[in-house]
Amino acid sequence: MYGKEIEKVLISGEQIEARAKEMAEQISKDYNGEPILVVGILRGASIFLADLFKNLKGYNVELDFMSLSSYGAGTSSSGEVKMIKDLTEPIDGKNVLIVEDIIDTGITLTYLMKVLQARNPKSVKLCSLLDKPSRRKVELKGDYVGFEIPDCFVVGYGLDYAEKFRNLPDVCILAKEVYEN
Ligand code: PRP
Repeated sequence: MYGKEIEKVLISGEQIEARAKEMAEQISKDYNGEPILVVGILRGASIFLADLFKNLKGYNVELDFMSLSSYGAGTSSSGEVKMIKDLTEPIDGKNVLIVEDIIDTGITLTYLMKVLQARNPKSVKLCSLLDKPSRRKVELKGDYVGFEIPDCFVVGYGLDYAEKFRNLPDVCILAKEVYEN
């Protein structure tokens, strides 16, 4: 189905949809009817966010977005986080649920948690589709994690390499030739 740029499918779109549903059920259970402000981190999280968001229960679920970037065009975090777009509304007193596509070194999310905590929310939790614990540079744990993955460069389902491959319907391992040349 894919060309030589893709080494293999790591997690299929169907697996992700099923897991997103399970995660949404767990989240709805844990918040137990309390209002939630879901904060999607553009751009990578957008596809998973849609799967998760539509499965959250109740009428007290708000949605806002932030855009952060730390990768540039490479395959590993530059260590420098840029805020490209801030939230639209204040978050004081709210239960904030950050939704990400991947936790890698942990640098981006540690920065974000700090920024959001300083705004006096009621709580801040982190939900991520993927987690690569072997790559962590700072200690950080997701509250809800879809899949733990090994240290390989993944694209698809919103994740990019140099802005490409976000549209693939599965999470795939990118062939080394693509980023080594
Ligand atoms: C990715 C991902 C996280 C971050 C994780 O974003 O969405 O925000 O990197 O890496 P870290 O744990 O090493 O900090 P990216 O900068 O690629 O932006 P994008 O979502 O727009 O592709």
